[in-house]
Amino acid sequence: MFLISLLLSAIAGLALFANAIPTIEIKGSKFFTSEGDQFFIKGIAYQLVPDDPLINTTQCNLDASLMKTLGANAIRVYHVDPAGDHDGCMQAFEDAGIYLFVDLDTFDTQIEEGAPHWNESQLNAFTRVMDEFSGYENTAGFFVGNEVLTTGNGSVAAPYVKAASRDVKAHRDSQSYRKVPVGYSAADISTLRPMLQNFLACGNKSDALDFFALNAYEWCGSDTSFLQSGYSALTTQIKDILPIPIFFSETGCITVRPRTFADQSAIFSDDMSPYWSGAIAYEWIEEANNYGLVSYGEKVDPSDPEAPPDGYTRSGTPTPISPDFENLKSQWKTVDPSSVSMNAYSPSVTAVDCPAMTSGVWNVEQSAALPSLGQTYDAAATSASGSGGGQGSATGSAAPAGTSGAAMPSFKNDLWGMSAGLVGLGFTVLMWL
Ligand SMILES: *[C@@H]1O[C@H](CO)[C@@H](O)[C@H](O)[C@H]1NC(C)=O
Ligand SMILES: *[C@@H]1O[C@H](CO)[C@@H](O)[C@H](O)[C@H]1NC(C)=O
Ligand SMILES: *[C@@H]1O[C@H](CO)[C@@H](O)[C@H](O)[C@H]1NC(C)=O
Ligand SMILES: *[C@@H]1O[C@H](CO)[C@@H](O)[C@H](O)[C@H]1NC(C)=O
Repeated sequence: MFLISLLLSAIAGLALFANAIPTIEIKGSKFFTSEGDQFFIKGIAYQLVPDDPLINTTQCNLDASLMKTLGANAIRVYHVDPAGDHDGCMQAFEDAGIYLFVDLDTFDTQIEEGAPHWNESQLNAFTRVMDEFSGYENTAGFFVGNEVLTTGNGSVAAPYVKAASRDVKAHRDSQSYRKVPVGYSAADISTLRPMLQNFLACGNKSDALDFFALNAYEWCGSDTSFLQSGYSALTTQIKDILPIPIFFSETGCITVRPRTFADQSAIFSDDMSPYWSGAIAYEWIEEANNYGLVSYGEKVDPSDPEAPPDGYTRSGTPTPISPDFENLKSQWKTVDPSSVSMNAYSPSVTAVDCPAMTSGVWNVEQSAALPSLGQTYDAAATSASGSGGGQGSATGSAAPAGTSGAAMPSFKNDLWGMSAGLVGLGFTVLMWL
């Protein structure tokens, strides 16, 4: 009897173990599962509704099961409401083998390039999201910012991004949460490369980002290649340099139709997979920007009183958009990146130097201390002292109004009507290559 019950509980234990999804961790410049296998991201940007797409369990189940057939293993969600109940949706995605990367900021709390500051209200808002999502085994990462920097002058905001990383990681560790990786999602601005990535990865590991990610729309159509697309230049800038993982936090150019997602075969090839950890395709739902992989019905006239705000239905059964959905599915099915186990891997790159200051290009002193909590960037103090260090006093004034309009239009400012900004960014980046 005793033996039998021992056996039964062993079996139950095994079943429990088999059910739990392994957690994601980092060693060197790669992601691994807690079972020791290398983890490559095949992700989808998922923001059905502006405030929080992770509260309707029925909807999440519908989407997660279709995403599973697509071959996705991760979603990226830009905005959530930490007060919501996320148990049902997180379970739905876990059951489908799908991890979550979630941004900690919102439109109200994000770090701004034009008037950088980092204060207690922002930290509290960021950590509320961290508090809510750290407990889910399938939370794979947090972003402290999305496309905050877009110009050389805007580099003065970089220390504020890194201060946010420092403080949310300190919160994570003080609460004894699992060490969910903390990263940043950068706009693909050639003039900020590679300084931004190196700055966010350099120095004290308690401050540095755990991973870096790039929103890149450089690869359009099938008639390009690793060498022609710009991906080889991106790879040269990280190869044997960046000590933390990097992946594409948005990709999927739409200027050539239909979308073939041919870049996926490069990202997971031997040219790139030793240095990159995969990609997140932009985006799940079809809306005004035309980047969708599924729709929830025909667009309706937004002036109809029954219609959703922009005419796009945002719930129900998702219908794949053909042939784009199938194209991405067959790319992901075909790719076979060579990987290494966590035990067998010993990182060859363990640190990177902080970038030197170059006026107008990278306006951050190499050895300047990070802003303290409550600090605001003081442009006047910086130009008067000539230091260009991007450090203001804790009581300093915000940057002059003139600098706040400098940022390029970016989708993050307008989830409902983002097409102009995103396409504009794509064009600008192409021109800058
Ligand atoms: C932080 O900055 C925001 C403006 O972005 C402001 O509304 C808020 O009051 C500030 N919080 C503190 C604690 O200073
Ligand atoms: C950067 O700032 C300098 C000094 O304020 C200004 O002359 C220059 O036009 C700015 N460049 C950009 C790209 O905003
Ligand atoms: C790194 O930063 C942490 C927290 O700010 C500090 O306690 C630690 O002493 C620093 N380590 C080094 C090597 O400077
Ligand atoms: C949740 O999603 C389902 C499926 O799309 C939908 O029928 C239902 O109305 C949604 N519930 C709420 C409260 O929006």
